[in-house]
Amino acid sequence: MNWEALLAPYAQAVEELKIKLKGIRKQFEYESKDSPIEFITGRVKPVASILEKSETKHIPPDRIEELQDIAGVRVVCPFVDDIYAIVSMIRSREDLEIIEEKDYVSHKKESGYRSYHMIINYPVETINGVKMVISEIQIRTLAMNFWATNEHSLNYKYKGNIPADIKSRLQRAAEAAFKLDEEMSIIKNEVQEAKRIFHRK
Ligand code: GTP
Ligand code: MG
Repeated sequence: MNWEALLAPYAQAVEELKIKLKGIRKQFEYESKDSPIEFITGRVKPVASILEKSETKHIPPDRIEELQDIAGVRVVCPFVDDIYAIVSMIRSREDLEIIEEKDYVSHKKESGYRSYHMIINYPVETINGVKMVISEIQIRTLAMNFWATNEHSLNYKYKGNIPADIKSRLQRAAEAAFKLDEEMSIIKNEVQEAKRIFHRK
């Protein structure tokens, strides 16, 4: 299979989405408003992971476009309410179509995972016309991102079978991260004002 050719529209979608979302951040900067975006990352799922996932989901190789996270973009926000601001900005865009939303921010997963997921259909212009590419946008706070990154590494290390004691530690860490987000939200205005003073000097 010519993976590079097959994944080219996904790579294009990731790059375009990153540029567009970074545009939001820049605009907030130009208008001297507090940005709801801390940073953006994106990736095309590695071929090995695509094959592994299509196998566990019983998706044949000629239907891998059914996987919804081959193109993935992540928006990391300073505060919890920034997540919902980004969600509503994405909802009102006319250059993409929303397929599904999953609110793991207010409904955490059993692992302790929190994030807001938007599955979108994104049109990529190719030399053969428009190709619709399914992409996953994950929106989360810095604290949620810290937790998810560490948990992801542990899952990798333990091949998905994290020992029970570490698992419950992680659940407690997730609650601590959530508490951190709650506490920071309460002093959000203070923090933002302080940041503005800091940038001015
Ligand atoms: P997959 O989990 O991707 O098979 O599909 P799904 O339909 O169950 O989607 P879900 O929204 O549960 O997960 C999609 C993505 O969110 C995953 O590929 C991860 O990137 C992330 N995610 C979901 N659950 C967890 C979790 O418990 N820990 C971490 N670190 N990431 C998670
Ligand atoms: Mg899942």
